[in-house]
Amino acid sequence: MATRVTRRPLATLPTPFEPMPRLGAHLGVANLFVKRDDLTGLALGGNKARKLDLLCADALDRGCDALVTGGGVQSNHARMTAAAASRLGLGCHLVLGGPPRDRKTANLLLDQLFGATLHFTDDLDVGELELEASADSYYGLERAITDVAERVRADGAQPYVIPIGGASTVGAVAYVLAADELTAQLPDAGITDIDTVVVADGSGGTHAGLLAGLPSTTTIVGVDVGTRPDLDDEVPTLAADAARASGRSVPIAAAVVDHDHFGDGYGAVTEPALEALRLTARLEGIALDPVYSAKAMAALITRLADGRIDRAANVVFWHTGGAVALFSDRYADVLSAL
Ligand SMILES: Cc1ncc(COP(=O)(O)O)c(C=O)c1O
Repeated sequence: MATRVTRRPLATLPTPFEPMPRLGAHLGVANLFVKRDDLTGLALGGNKARKLDLLCADALDRGCDALVTGGGVQSNHARMTAAAASRLGLGCHLVLGGPPRDRKTANLLLDQLFGATLHFTDDLDVGELELEASADSYYGLERAITDVAERVRADGAQPYVIPIGGASTVGAVAYVLAADELTAQLPDAGITDIDTVVVADGSGGTHAGLLAGLPSTTTIVGVDVGTRPDLDDEVPTLAADAARASGRSVPIAAAVVDHDHFGDGYGAVTEPALEALRLTARLEGIALDPVYSAKAMAALITRLADGRIDRAANVVFWHTGGAVALFSDRYADVLSAL
C-alpha cells in the first residue's frame, strides 16, 4: 500500500549540490561532489529536517499534538525534532541516553532552548553493538520512548512516536525524495550519473531511502557510526518498505555497510575521522562532525586510497550535518588540538 506523501515544509530545499575541487585534487579524484544536507535550515540543519517534513505531516494528519522521540544525549535528531515541535506548536518529549546533565552544551542546550521536556534514561544509551547487549541500549531506548509516549497519552495528549533517528518507513521515504532532488541537480553539475555515494549510517533511514531512490548503478556506501547493531538487516528492509511506500521498485542493489570506521563505538573519536574533519575544513571551508560526517568522510578517503572507489568515478559525499556537536564539552579538548 503506497503511503500518502505529504510534506510539512520545515526543511529549506533543495540543498546545494556542489563540487569539492580542492579536497578532490588533494585526494586525486576529479569529480568529487558534496550534497549539502547540513544546510537544510531547521535548527542549524542536518539530515533529519527532511524526515521531519514528512513525519510531522503524518503526526498532524493523525491528530497528534506531541512528538516523542529520543537518542544519545547529543542527538541531532532530538534537537531538530524539538525545533520542529516549536515551529508547529506541538509538545515534544525527548528520551535521552544516560544520566541527567546539569551543564548543557551543544545539542542538549538547544533541546532545552526549544522547550522540549527531557527524560534521561540513566543507564540506557545507544551505541552497544552486540545485538544481545543492545536489547539494553538501542532497543532498550526505543522501548523507553514508547513508555514515555504511554505516559504522555495517560496525561491526555496524543503522542506521535518517532523511532531513534526517524528511522520509520515515512522517515526513509524522505530520502527517496532526496534522491530525486539530487538526480535533478546532476545536469547543472555537468554529470549524468553518480557512481558512488558515501553517507553516514546511524539508524539507517537515510541510507535506506537513497537505496530506494537512486538507480541500482549507483553504489551507496553507508558508514556505520556505531549507533545501531543490525544495520546490515535493517537498511535493506527499510529500503524495501520505503520503495513500496513511494511506489518505486524494490531496490535490487545490495546495501553496502562499512563497519570499519566507528572506532571504539558511537561518538568515540578516531584519528582518521579527525584528519577527515581537518582536511574538509581546511580545503573546502566545510564543517564536519566527529560522530557522523567525519567518520563517513574518513571511509570515503580510505576507499579512494585502497581502490574500492575508483578515482575516475563520480563520487558524492552526502553531508548529513552534525556540526553542532563540535561545541559539546565532550570534544573540546581533542578538537582544540586540531
Ligand atoms: C549528523 C547526522 N548524520 C547522519 C545521521 C545518520 O542518519 P540515519 O539515522 O538516517 O542513518 C544522523 C542521525 O542519526 C545524524 O545526526
